[in-house]
Amino acid sequence: MRSHYCGGINESHIDQEVTLCGWVHRRRDHGGVIFLDLRDRDGMSQVVIDPDTPESFALAEKVRSEFVVQITGRVRRRPAGTENSNMSTGQVEVLGKQLAILNAAATPPFPLDEHEHVGEDVRLKYRYVDLRRPEMINRLRFRSRVTSYVRNFLDGNGFMDVETPILTRATPEGARDYLVPSRTHEGSFFALPQSPQLFKQLLMVSGVDRYYQIAKCFRDEDLRADRQPEFTQIDIEASFVDEETLMSLTEDMIRALFKDVLEIALPAFPRMPYKEAMQRYGSDKPDLRIPLELIDVGDLVAGVDFKVFAGPANDEKGRVAALRVPRGGELTRKQIDDYTKFVGIYGAKGLAYIKVNDVSKGVEGLQSPIIKFLGDDVAQAVIERVAAEDGDIVFFGADKTNVVNEALGALRIKVGHDMKLLTTDWAPLWVVDFPMFEETPDGGLTAIHHPFTAPSCTPEELAASPATALSRAYDMVLNGTELGGGSIRIHDQSTQEGVFRALGIGDEEAREKFGFLLDALKYGCPPHGGLAFGLDRLIMLMTGATSIRDVIAFPKTQSATCLMTQAPGEVTDKQLRELHIRRRKPAAKAGEGSVAQQAEES
Ligand code: AMO
Ligand code: AMP
Repeated sequence: MRSHYCGGINESHIDQEVTLCGWVHRRRDHGGVIFLDLRDRDGMSQVVIDPDTPESFALAEKVRSEFVVQITGRVRRRPAGTENSNMSTGQVEVLGKQLAILNAAATPPFPLDEHEHVGEDVRLKYRYVDLRRPEMINRLRFRSRVTSYVRNFLDGNGFMDVETPILTRATPEGARDYLVPSRTHEGSFFALPQSPQLFKQLLMVSGVDRYYQIAKCFRDEDLRADRQPEFTQIDIEASFVDEETLMSLTEDMIRALFKDVLEIALPAFPRMPYKEAMQRYGSDKPDLRIPLELIDVGDLVAGVDFKVFAGPANDEKGRVAALRVPRGGELTRKQIDDYTKFVGIYGAKGLAYIKVNDVSKGVEGLQSPIIKFLGDDVAQAVIERVAAEDGDIVFFGADKTNVVNEALGALRIKVGHDMKLLTTDWAPLWVVDFPMFEETPDGGLTAIHHPFTAPSCTPEELAASPATALSRAYDMVLNGTELGGGSIRIHDQSTQEGVFRALGIGDEEAREKFGFLLDALKYGCPPHGGLAFGLDRLIMLMTGATSIRDVIAFPKTQSATCLMTQAPGEVTDKQLRELHIRRRKPAAKAGEGSVAQQAEES
């Protein structure tokens, strides 16, 4: 139906006849001449229809925004002074001879140019209209370029694309499972995969040797700007490799990808142990574009009367840390109050600070509500420890270590952006030497990555002190976002059983849930490892989008619904009966949720 895309017309087509198809972006009536801006996925062309073609002219008068039309006409140079250098087609226009209306369109729910003035809920409800916006369609195109590049890269390195099941059993990646009831097995449920983790490991047992998949993953967890219930991983696994091979291969892939599609040469990826990342940045995914660091001062304040500081300083699970902000002395009382509220989100009970007016004057040159509590000597020692200079502010966090890390870790990023302290556009790194486990609130242990991650110590050492054991896991971090993570896996049955035991998973439960894996480890499992990248996050960072929703064609809302299809939706009683599910009567008490959510096995 068409000879060219609207966005593809340029001076080389002058005097040629072309046929374009697309949507009417705008119609303008200019004293007897009608201009149509015709848009398709590749761009926009200006079409002129004059009364010399009366039939087309009459049709053009009927055309409205977003009508679907076909136009045949001759390309000509725009009259001098009417060129538009902002458009790739801005030097030319099409003198339309024949116009056909292929389909009318109701008034769109929002004018494409004015999407900023409509709520995201409207854009999500009419996503097919929203995706017509050049910015959106370009992100989809970009995403397609990235997946195509990644496939080529991995194919070229001997990786095999293998699909793994969506209807499966639970794969523990730390989130809740999405469950699918079985019709044929009363009372049984499939789980949607949180990742293809177990299948890719089993493919290594099969001898596939190098596997990849651009895989859908499902996690029922609290959503944030960089999390979706359904998202995509670039999932990779290889046999007979160590962490060096995997890290350098995937680092090469990301580096080559940035070079190819963005023409950006990423700097070297430094490696930082988890412990150092937490100590210096309060985060296991530090944003190294921001030069601020957390500095421990617990030893200096352990003896002061100020309980707020002395308490955590003398608690082995506590931390007292300082964050020096250059030029922060100019912050107003109001700004400091706002930062205090901000750290409150992370559980901090306050945000003590010292403004440094004049270092040479000692304590006289400092301004702070807490100096009277610290005493002059301690205040002076703290200022020396953080190497504060005139005009700085030093913030303090004192609490349980995780609260201080989260609060000051988030504050350093916020202040870094607010005060425009970023030193570079791209700051990648590898975080390594993660602990195997972390403590749960009830005193048990949970895997920091997943329970198939190999420890870097012997099984005996692991059994003796699981809480301090390190793992062979690695995360790739870019600009404060965890882009991907992986590990060398456990490939022998006894180590795997040891890890299950450390996690409080009894032998019987381990057999019931992961018997197939434990069996497979007996039948000749090669040493192997891998990693998975969050594709949506990667595209978000590469395109500068602020949410992964903007790089997914049909994303879900923060409450995990699809506003367009109204999923999740009601089902009929017949369907439920077939699935052996009976609705629970709405509970009399408040706060029990809706009837539909209360589906229950009968
Ligand atoms: P992990 O759970 O770290 O590892 O996930 C890998 C990467 O997937 C992305 N990601 C998400 N993206 C969007 N929405 C989500 N809800 C979401 N959750 C995770 C992140 C993350 O780095 N099987 C292991 C990988 C392995 O060991 O090989 C796994 O899934 O970018
Ligand atoms: P208060 O004695 O509670 O008035 O606190 C004195 C100063 O210490 C105020 O600036 C508070 O914001 C700050 N502060 C209180 N609790 C903490 C905390 N846990 N960490 C850091 N600063 C705090």
